[in-house]
Amino acid sequence: MDLINKITNNSSAIDFEKLSNVDRPIEAANGLPNQCYTDDNYLKYEREKIFCDKWTVIGVGSSLPKSGDARPYNLLGIPLLIVRDREHQIRVFHNVCSHRGFKLVDKPCGLKNVIRCPYHSWAYDFSGRLIATPHVGGLNVHESEKFDKAKSNLKEVRSTVWMDMIFVNINSNEIDFEEYIQPLEQRWSKFINKEDQKLINYSNDFGYFNLEVNSNWKFAIENYCESYHLPTIHPELNKVSNINDHYHIQGLPNRFAGQGSKKYQTLTKEDKRFDTFKNWNKEQLQHSEYIALFPNVMIGLHIDHFYIFWLEPLATNKTREHMNMYYIGNESANGDELKELRKQNSKFWKDVMLEDISAIEGMQEGRGSPVYNGGNFSPVMDAPTHQFHKWVASNLSK
Ligand code: FES
Ligand SMILES: [Fe+2]
Repeated sequence: MDLINKITNNSSAIDFEKLSNVDRPIEAANGLPNQCYTDDNYLKYEREKIFCDKWTVIGVGSSLPKSGDARPYNLLGIPLLIVRDREHQIRVFHNVCSHRGFKLVDKPCGLKNVIRCPYHSWAYDFSGRLIATPHVGGLNVHESEKFDKAKSNLKEVRSTVWMDMIFVNINSNEIDFEEYIQPLEQRWSKFINKEDQKLINYSNDFGYFNLEVNSNWKFAIENYCESYHLPTIHPELNKVSNINDHYHIQGLPNRFAGQGSKKYQTLTKEDKRFDTFKNWNKEQLQHSEYIALFPNVMIGLHIDHFYIFWLEPLATNKTREHMNMYYIGNESANGDELKELRKQNSKFWKDVMLEDISAIEGMQEGRGSPVYNGGNFSPVMDAPTHQFHKWVASNLSK
């Protein structure tokens, strides 16, 4: 029985005593233990408790612009399928045929009318309904009295789209997304209201890049939450916006954390500028905010652009970082006039993210040390990072 428990519920992979040290006051707390970054058994548990139980980002709507566009996504071994349906809504299904379990779609594609399984050609419509079962009753007999199609539709995953991010809650147990995101929307209402959210336009030319890093996904979030590393890792950025120009962000209830800058300058090249959000608080025109919405998305909000930097965990020590960039209105996002400025902005962020790779890969290497106990936090500089550790620890213990 014990063995079955171990296999079905990998909680034996967790050292709950060490985990409890995370929740101490910041001056006495340790970070998450090494196993959370190095142990494959732990990762299975984390997949369940962090990625399946919570609202997790698996892509952006703009990468499926047309009805019938489909993309597979592999969430640490769980095959998912994202489809834009006939009503132009994003839907997410488990990417597995109800017949013999063949994976339905294995690369991004444009589907004509149906989702057809390559194995025996069963077909599903874009709402997941099984609509064709060729030869199911023998050659040229496509129906069978003994087989009820209605019981073999695709399994849909609870999903929603917010500011172009596609969120899934695979275990269907998290609170409604509207409620979940309300504290962040409330915080950002001084910059963008619900109508302004709709103004973000994806840039088709310089709107995307990805980076593969030899690091656990959590290090990317931890690093994003703090500005402490600015002088050492981003010396150029530090010249225009140094530590003292930054402030901490700690969302309550604990769902997000990060930092803000008080020195953001709108981008300009030869007197050309991007359009800006119209309802931005006049007192805070130079504010920009960098928030990690747990577990796996980092968002950058500026008066003249917006980005989504989201993480695809690949293994304990491997992560793909996806960057999607947006501007306000289609002219800024895709017009010829501002193409050079978009190119420059994309390069700027790519350079920053490349600089961060050395930090997060260095932390991954350090976690091989048996004497490291999760480390300490600066009581002044690391509060948002500690908040993320507490979020992970509390969700693992639930
Ligand atoms: S496994 Fe899909 S049709 Fe047979
Ligand atoms: Fe950084």
